[in-house]
Amino acid sequence: NNVASGSLCFVTCTTCHLCTVLILLSFCSLSRRNMSSMLAPQADQVVTLSEWEDRWLEGRIEFHRPQVHEMLENNIDKVLNGRTGVRFFFPLCGKAVDMKWLADLGHSVVGVEISQKGVRDFFEDNNMTYSVETVASLPGAKVFKSSEKNISLYQCDLFNFSSSIEGQFGAIWDRGSLVAINPRDREKYAALLISLMATDCRYILNTVVYNTELHKGLPFVVPDEQVHSLFGSHCSIELLHSVEALTDRLRSWGLDYFTENVHLLIPKTSNASEY
Ligand SMILES: C[S@@+](CC[C@H](N)C(=O)[O-])C[C@H]1O[C@@H](n2cnc3c(N)ncnc32)[C@H](O)[C@@H]1O
Repeated sequence: NNVASGSLCFVTCTTCHLCTVLILLSFCSLSRRNMSSMLAPQADQVVTLSEWEDRWLEGRIEFHRPQVHEMLENNIDKVLNGRTGVRFFFPLCGKAVDMKWLADLGHSVVGVEISQKGVRDFFEDNNMTYSVETVASLPGAKVFKSSEKNISLYQCDLFNFSSSIEGQFGAIWDRGSLVAINPRDREKYAALLISLMATDCRYILNTVVYNTELHKGLPFVVPDEQVHSLFGSHCSIELLHSVEALTDRLRSWGLDYFTENVHLLIPKTSNASEY
């Protein structure tokens, strides 16, 4: 109703700038209210690090995909933007096979994952030998390094990681990461990820949207408006894909829609030519 009456006012009063401004403001506040009501049911949800470690030990890792993610494969040219030997960062990496795929293409990968089982499984599932070292600047953390490929996985809390450890990155693949951290940590997460972006960085961010009244998560809903409020002041944001991905499993959670959105984030300071 608000939208319909707003449009009518706009049609009947096109020369009135004040009216246009008022309509835009009312659309913005409507969208902010929509976003808050969408986020409210999940705002206080918390998954602790030890719950994540238990999930790995108990084999409850339904998020893991045995194949390279199609959104990474389909958008790889946009991510590389003509570059070779790109340094990729994988926040909350799990044992994503995408890391080996990129390393096989000649890129290097740094991942961060809390579960030691997850990290060891990555190397063992892919028949890769690896070394394990402590990290002087990160008490309690370990870094697992592939002997053959350019892959280093830090076993630690992402929120203890920083650009002082591995510098900044030319690309970020964020799948199952922003949507998995606790909703109350999103601002801190965005600030960390922005600090890890080199000026030529291309960051692919996967988010999901569904009715939060019907399912408490995981994954947690991140509306597009929030992607903009978290990253918009530092990055240009392009929605690359928006696909309906309702499956029988998601229907069994009571969901009636499940939208997967893929965004490309580029620092506003970037000098890199557009693809
Ligand atoms: C939803 S899974 C996604 C894994 C991977 N990105 C994928 O797509 O298969 C989230 C992962 O993040 C890890 N994790 C959760 N919170 C973390 C944190 N604060 N620091 C490091 N790892 C974390 C979990 O153990 C889990 O493996």
